[in-house]
Formats: sequence, C-alpha cells, structure tokens
Amino acid sequence: MSGKIAVVGSNMVDLITYTDRMPAPGETIEAPRFEMGCGGKGANQAIAAARLGADVMMLTKVGDDIFADNTIRNFETSGIDTRFVERVPGTSSGVAPIFVEPSGENSILIVKGANALLSPADVDRAAEALKQCDLIVMQLEVPLETVYHTIAFGAAHGIETLLNPAPAAPDLDPARIEQVTFFVPNQTELATITGLPVTSEAEAETAARTLVARGIRTVIVTLGARGALLVTAGEATRRIEPVRVTPVDTTGAGDAFIGSFARYYVETHDLDASLHKAVRYAADSITRPGTQKSYATREAFEAFCATCDA
Ligand code: RIB
Ligand code: NA
Repeated sequence: MSGKIAVVGSNMVDLITYTDRMPAPGETIEAPRFEMGCGGKGANQAIAAARLGADVMMLTKVGDDIFADNTIRNFETSGIDTRFVERVPGTSSGVAPIFVEPSGENSILIVKGANALLSPADVDRAAEALKQCDLIVMQLEVPLETVYHTIAFGAAHGIETLLNPAPAAPDLDPARIEQVTFFVPNQTELATITGLPVTSEAEAETAARTLVARGIRTVIVTLGARGALLVTAGEATRRIEPVRVTPVDTTGAGDAFIGSFARYYVETHDLDASLHKAVRYAADSITRPGTQKSYATREAFEAFCATCDA
C-alpha cells in the first residue's frame, strides 16, 4: 500500500492576535501580541500528515496576493504535492483573523476568498492523481457541491474518504454524504447535522448512531479535552481516552487530530491505534502557540508519546 493522502480543501492565512479579553462592540482595546501563520483547515490537516511523514497531495485554490506565494512555499517546503494548487487572478486568498484568550480558547473569523471557487470540475481535473490515493480528506471551507462530488468520486473509484464537517454548516445535506467512509465531527458539528442534542457522551453516541444507520461506515466524534468516541457499523462504541496537557493555544487542534489520524490510518489501517495517536498529536499541539507551527514532527511526537504513555 502506498499510503498516499489527498486533501481536497481550504488554505487560509491565519492572522492571530493574542488578547487578554475580547473587545466589546464599539470598544477598542490593546492586545499584547500578533502572529501570522499558514492555516486553513485543509492545509492544516495536510501539513500535520506531512510532518508525520505522509505522502500528501493538496487540491486547493489561492488568490493572487502576497499570501498565495507564502502558502504555496509552505506546502512545498513541507514536501506536499502542489500540482493541483491553483492561483485565481483577481481574487483574495483565504484569510482567518483569530483571537486567542489567556485560557487558550480561540475565536475565528474566516474569509474564504479563492477557497470558495474550488469546484467539482477541479476535482475531475485531478481525477487521475486522486485515483492513486488511499484516502481523500475534506472539510467544509470549500463549496458543499465540491465535497459531495468528491465523496461520490471516492465511492465510485473505491477510494476511502474522510469528511471533517468543520466549520459547522447547517445546510450540509446528510443524504449526500452517506457514502463517506469516515465522518469526523466535534459535538457542535454533530448536533448541527443530526438536529439532535449533543451535550453528553451518551447523546453523542445516539446522534452518531443515526448517521451510521444511514450508511456512513464510521463516525468519530471528537470530544476536546475528553478524547474521542469511535462509533462504527456493527461494532460496540469505543472511547479513546484523552491525555492531560496544559493548553496554551487550541487553534488547529482539531486539524492536528484529523491529519495525524489520516497519516496513521493509511499506514496501519488500525482504527483504534490511529485514534490513540490522533488524540495525542492534538494534545501535544495545544501545548504550543500557533496552528501549523505547533504541529510536531514524527520524531518529536514519538518522544511526546513516550512521556504520556510512560
Ligand atoms: O481549524 C483551525 C483553522 O480554522 C485555522 O487555521 C483557520 O485558518 C480556520 O480555517
Ligand atoms: Na497550538
């Protein structure tokens, strides 16, 4: 098995302000620190997988501004295949102003820019390259039609697909994602798609089971500091225990989870072992500031695992 991953998704430039508190409407306050970095859920997941040694191809669109060059260079230096990263003249790149409070909690505004133009035709243009992949990973910062088309493409060609339905999209049609192999929401996203309350683990399991009943093979619910739930057709629900860390910046932790899961899954095809790694990879990332900047290399990550499983 080649273990190749494709990400059909977004890229953004993260404009991160570290603040003591959020300003009230009409108020101006001073914040102590600012940082710019590469982000976007698709790109983050691709980078996490690549940093752990995966062979990754990225399908995304950038604008024709200074952010675009930076984003493409970032993919290239991470060893990601950029044949299908397209520049769109006259459009801005995706940007994300992010505010991080002292608790490590973040608030994010996204401007999709060129990401909003990633189309089903772009997926078709990459068809031959996508057929060489073992897993296609998606999020919801690109048009829903593109996501539906990619899931159908995967199903038609026997390629496994993973959808991380982030950010939560009330208009995501459950009927059009039934063929996805892995559906990986957090609690809010799971509540949004099922219309059910998801305030406890029991409710998360019930809601996830409704999706499995519709045909989705595996639902993985991320529970933040409480780990994750694995709900898969014909099997008992499993809980992946968290590891305890002191949060510094949780931005991109969900993406760290997805990217690392993808990487270990294509390598081992062992769901439980891959999720065990993913919980740890996400936890490690929140102990450092920044999004991609906080994603560990394989070597550093193995060292972290050794300390938390000691
Ligand atoms: O999931 C974190 C990401 O969400 C950030 O990098 C930001 O760009 C937004 O897309
Ligand atoms: Na981080």
